Amino acid sequence: MDLAVKAVDKQAIAGAFGRAASRYDTAAKLQQQTGEYLMELSQAENLGIRVLDAGCGTGFFSARWKQQGKQVIALDLASGMLNHAQEQQVADYYLQGDIEHLGLADNSVDICFSNLAVQWCNELPCALQEFHRVTRPGGLILFSTLAQGSLYELEAAWGQVDTYRHINQFLPLQAITDACQLYRHKIISRQYCEYYPQLLPLLNSLKGIGATHLHHGRQHGLMTRKRLNTLAEAYPRDNEDYPLSYQIAFGVIYCDK
Ligand SMILES: C[S@@+](CC[C@H](N)C(=O)[O-])C[C@H]1O[C@@H](n2cnc3c(N)ncnc32)[C@H](O)[C@@H]1O
Repeated sequence: MDLAVKAVDKQAIAGAFGRAASRYDTAAKLQQQTGEYLMELSQAENLGIRVLDAGCGTGFFSARWKQQGKQVIALDLASGMLNHAQEQQVADYYLQGDIEHLGLADNSVDICFSNLAVQWCNELPCALQEFHRVTRPGGLILFSTLAQGSLYELEAAWGQVDTYRHINQFLPLQAITDACQLYRHKIISRQYCEYYPQLLPLLNSLKGIGATHLHHGRQHGLMTRKRLNTLAEAYPRDNEDYPLSYQIAFGVIYCDK
């Protein structure tokens, strides 16, 4: 197993998400749940109107903010996602860019919102530093990310099929908390579980949200019928269903600059 830590291949991530854009919203049920919860954490009524939706994807939450009367900048690495967002007119401005190098001025937004995107960055502290830089004093940063323990059933099943890494490594909750130490913050951890009647729709759900790109290597082996059956036999079942767990960390950072 290759455990060497390599930099995230952002072009590949943008490609995987871009290809998923047209079917993303129907597959992204988890993202919709976490994003709604993240919005609830905002209590943003008096914070001002400028919102950055960082890693906006199709702009599902850009539109939700806009419905609340906010002026929204939708930003994403993937041009395919951003084009889709722009076609739906979910925001006021569209910016192709990288969360780790935001092309925005210091203190230029009131709220920085980022739902399930920073797990694709090289360094969480770098992403948070950028969020903090562009958010004005008194503003709010809201982010959610996948934490260690996510997709553990699938990882366990693959572990019985071969010795390759098939699942991205997500940061432990403690590392996410540590990355927030520079700022006044709160972290909330929640577990979500999806149940699938068959393994193939479970695997397709990951593909449908562009989450099949591996940070530290490439996919190993074609998914033949035989391999799928072996994986299904090894998969830990809950009654007849195939469960898929996600460990989500929600962060709220108060910009006391
Ligand atoms: C799981 S999707 C979430 C999309 C959206 N926030 C939602 O809630 O539906 C992650 C998004 O983050 C984007 N992304 C990944 N890495 C990024 C980066 N470094 N900078 C900007 N966007 C990034 C991807 O292209 C993708 O659209």
